[in-house]
Amino acid sequence: MYPILKKQVLTPVTKLYVIEAPEIARKAQAGQFVILRITEEGERIPLTIADYDARAGTITIVVQELGKTTRQLGTFEEGDSLASFTGPLGRPTEIENYGTTLVVGGGLGIAPIYPIARSLREAGNHVIGIIGARNKELLFWEEELRSVTDELIVVTDDGSYMRKALVTVPLKELLESGRKIDRIWGIGPAIMMKFIAATSEPFGVPTIVSLNSIMVDGTGMCGACRVSVGGRTRFACVDGPEFDGHQVDWNLLLSRQRGYLDKEKEALQAYEAQLAENKR
Ligand SMILES: Cc1cc2nc3c(=O)[nH]c(=O)nc-3n(C[C@H](O)[C@H](O)[C@H](O)COP(=O)(O)OP(=O)(O)OC[C@H]3O[C@@H](n4cnc5c(N)ncnc54)[C@H](O)[C@@H]3O)c2cc1C
Ligand code: FES
Repeated sequence: MYPILKKQVLTPVTKLYVIEAPEIARKAQAGQFVILRITEEGERIPLTIADYDARAGTITIVVQELGKTTRQLGTFEEGDSLASFTGPLGRPTEIENYGTTLVVGGGLGIAPIYPIARSLREAGNHVIGIIGARNKELLFWEEELRSVTDELIVVTDDGSYMRKALVTVPLKELLESGRKIDRIWGIGPAIMMKFIAATSEPFGVPTIVSLNSIMVDGTGMCGACRVSVGGRTRFACVDGPEFDGHQVDWNLLLSRQRGYLDKEKEALQAYEAQLAENKR
C-alpha cells in the first residue's frame, strides 16, 4: 500500500498528492510517469511524476479530476493509501546543456513541465517558461515555475490574469524575435501540443512533446498506447512518452484518445449514481 502523506487543492479541478514510494523516488527522473490503482479492483491510470524527493522517499502527482477514477481519488485524504503505484515508467527527458531552452506548459501540463525545467536549469541551460490556463482559477504553480526558470511568461485564455493569449502567441513572438532558442518542450492537452509543434516547425527548432495516449499495462505489451511518429508505430509507454512533436501523427492520437468516450461516460454515470445512492 502507498500512503498519501499530503493532499493539496491547487484549483477547483486539480489536486496534488505526495505519495510515500521510496523505491520509485530513488529512481525517478523528469519526464517519467507512474501507473496507479486507487483500489484493488480499480482501473490503472497513468500520471506524470510532477516532483520526486529521493531523500524523503516521496513522489508528487498532480491530478485533474475528469472521470470516475480521478474523481474517486479526489475523495482520498492524507493517511489513506493507494492499492498500487508502479514506476518510474517511460523514458526520462533527455537532459543536456542545449543552450537556451523553452518550456511550455498548458493547463495540467504546468505540473510535468516543472521537473523538466528544473533539470534543464541544473544542466546549465537558460530556461524560458511559458505557462497558461483557461482562466486565473485554473492556473497553479506560478511561483514554483518562476523558481526553476530564468524568465517566465504567464497567459490566460480569457485575460483574467496576466496577458490574454493562448501559449502559442508568446511562443511565436519569441521565435519571430530572432532570439536563438535551441530546444522546446511543450506539454498539455494533445490539441495544444499539436499547435505548439505547428508553431515551432517553420522555425526549425526541435520540439519535444509528452504524449498522453490511452495506456493500460504501461509495459509495451497491450498496444493501447500506440502512436505514429515519423511514420513508425511507437508505444508511448516504453518508447516515450516524449517524442519529436514535428513527427507525431496528431490526428491519429486525437482520434484514439476519443475511442472510449462512451465507456468513460458510462463509468462516470455509474459512479455518480452510486454516490447518490450512498447519500440516501
Ligand atoms: C503518460 C501520461 C501521463 C499523464 N499524466 C497525467 C497527470 O500528471 N495528471 C493528470 O491529471 N492526468 C494525467 N494523464 C491523464 C490521466 O491518465 C487520465 O486523465 C485518467 O486516466 C482519467 O481517468 P478517469 O477514470 O478519471 O477519466 P475517464 O472518464 O476514464 O477518462 C477521461 C479522459 O482521460 C483520458 N484517459 C482515460 N483513461 C486513460 C488511460 N488509461 N490512459 C491515459 N489516458 C486516459 C482520456 O483522454 C479520456 O477521455 C496522463 C496520461 C498519460 C498517458
Ligand atoms: S500501455 Fe500497453 S503498450 Fe503501452
